[in-house]
Amino acid sequence: MSGPTRVPGLLYGGDYNPEQWSEEVWAEDVRLMKDAGVNLVTVGVFSWARLQPGPDTWDFGWLDRLLDLLAAHGVAADLATATASPPAWLVRAHPEILPVTADGVRLEFGSRQHYCPSSPVYRESATRLARKIAERYRDHPAVVLWHIHNEYGDHVTECFCAASAADFRHWLRDRYGDLAALNRAWATDFWSQRYGRWDEIEPPRAAPGPVNPTQVLDWRRFCSDALLACYLAEKAVLDEDGGGIPVTTNFMSMFKSLDYWAWAAHEDVVSDDAYPDPADPEAHVAAAMNYDLMRSLKAGRPWLLMEQAPSAVSWRPVNVPKTPELSRLWSFQAVARGADGVLHFQWRASRAGAEKYHSALLPHRGTGSPQWDRTVRLGRDLTRLAEIAGTRLTADVAIVLDWDSWWALELEDHPSSRLLLRELTLSWYGTAYVRNVTVDFVPPGADLTSYRVVLLPNLYLTTDATAAWLTSYVADGGRLVCGFFSGIVNEHDHVHLGGYPAPLRDVLGVVVDEFWPVPDDASVDVVFGDRRVPATLWSEWLETGTAETVAGYGSGPLTGRPAVTRNAHGAGRAWYVSCHLGDALGHVLDEVFADAGVRPVLDVPAGVEATRRDGPGASFLFLLNHRDAGTELPVPDGIDLLTGTALRGTLRLPPLGAAVLKTTHPQPER
Ligand code: GAL
Repeated sequence: MSGPTRVPGLLYGGDYNPEQWSEEVWAEDVRLMKDAGVNLVTVGVFSWARLQPGPDTWDFGWLDRLLDLLAAHGVAADLATATASPPAWLVRAHPEILPVTADGVRLEFGSRQHYCPSSPVYRESATRLARKIAERYRDHPAVVLWHIHNEYGDHVTECFCAASAADFRHWLRDRYGDLAALNRAWATDFWSQRYGRWDEIEPPRAAPGPVNPTQVLDWRRFCSDALLACYLAEKAVLDEDGGGIPVTTNFMSMFKSLDYWAWAAHEDVVSDDAYPDPADPEAHVAAAMNYDLMRSLKAGRPWLLMEQAPSAVSWRPVNVPKTPELSRLWSFQAVARGADGVLHFQWRASRAGAEKYHSALLPHRGTGSPQWDRTVRLGRDLTRLAEIAGTRLTADVAIVLDWDSWWALELEDHPSSRLLLRELTLSWYGTAYVRNVTVDFVPPGADLTSYRVVLLPNLYLTTDATAAWLTSYVADGGRLVCGFFSGIVNEHDHVHLGGYPAPLRDVLGVVVDEFWPVPDDASVDVVFGDRRVPATLWSEWLETGTAETVAGYGSGPLTGRPAVTRNAHGAGRAWYVSCHLGDALGHVLDEVFADAGVRPVLDVPAGVEATRRDGPGASFLFLLNHRDAGTELPVPDGIDLLTGTALRGTLRLPPLGAAVLKTTHPQPER
């Protein structure tokens, strides 16, 4: 099967910033890339000032020579449109392109990502540069992927300048049509906020007290769309002049500011930058979640890990390196969850500049170094996994993720400001992860027919259409597990009346009378049969209608009331979890998974991650040992592609060890 570009096998390499080095160094670079098995480098990400030294002067000579050199050595290029860092001359000629913060500070030149997404000058300058690059290099043999911009929303996600305000008003006019509709949606009779003219509306700048929540929610939607418009302007250029080469822009994992469902629809290949912290012993769980999201953004298509650190980063307060084993294990983890490439920031460690202490594939010390050995080893390993490119995972379980609801949940003045969607989702995801149950993410309205179970860690903002979608999923035989404070408001952040969670009450068979958030450092007991577990963050005065009680509160003011319920609805069942159970959510999910016939990929010891990618004639079982101790596990017969060894029934994994087992037998039905 083939991967996302025309380069065969898995992709390996990283960001390459040759403009930081003399051309003699380039010759060494390509030679060492070959030694390391590097087959793709991302070029030109921060090259704008070099490529366009003045408004009408261009310098492509160096990039011509570089791409020729790469092509001559069989290294492909992911060529950037170079638009993430506008040059000084452009900023000085048009200071209005610099972004402005909520309290009115215009951010200065001297770092990167210094542009206002709504600036017409920025957008025109960026698309002009993108067109020059596309026209010049679309037929270049090295170029296999276009890389638009870099990490949209990194550093600057919103700008409060006059151009942004004007753009926001346009966006609002498109959304609401007339002011009466906006006044209704924003509930402007509250606190005398009624608008009589469009030009009275401003972005939610720093204000004396809480800003209108619907205004803030619309602002979040607008900011994601404003950056998306920048992307789409460049994408249109590449669609026209890019020679049919696939297009990507690198995402930043589960990133709140950008609605990646909307973005991924316009990408040919999803790519992600992921920087799990080696100092965090649980970092691999959040990494797995991010990777599963990336795979899900284009319905299971292979994606690319566009950036990871070979070892330490340089931007945390304390930057702990990865051991060679950890670096290798975490690289396999991305492939295990659907990546067809493992790329890094960056190829050669910078000598100067803000990132000179960031690790690289080629470290400051050069080749005779353990860091370089690690680089060569990973290249060899990924070559051994070449046949995995293009294969896919399947999941029986889906988690619903919706950016609108994320933004709304985290608005101010809620019963608790401690409810953060990423953390809630990670807690639910982690419960499935430790059971080695593969999970996809889906947006509201997605086709759920292939999923036995749908998890809803939180969907604070639930439209009537989304509620109907979930209800019919259950009526048709699905299993839904719904977390607290879901189904509370509509698309305008107005409360659904009649008892929470009004639009989901039928399917859940419960009504919530009042929210009882749990103070920091406190907990309440929840009783499952003879087991008592602590719940933190949140609890609710819950009443059952048609639902039955699965667990009840065992301490505090809600003692004796239901905490977790189950409701039969049509051909399916829906569970409601009114409190934050943490790991104890496993009590609920074990019941749900058993009820739905959801099985782990493989029964393995705790701490071992198991996933499976399937191709036409073979399956590839990834077994990753995240523990510091060795372990032995039962496996089907097959060949470990990393060692070439045939395995018969048992596998020994060293601490932080990994195996990729190729099996040609049909896998048991899960
Ligand atoms: C990314 C960025 C890269 C580099 C890297 C360092 O966010 O895209 O250019 O700065 O971080 O970790």
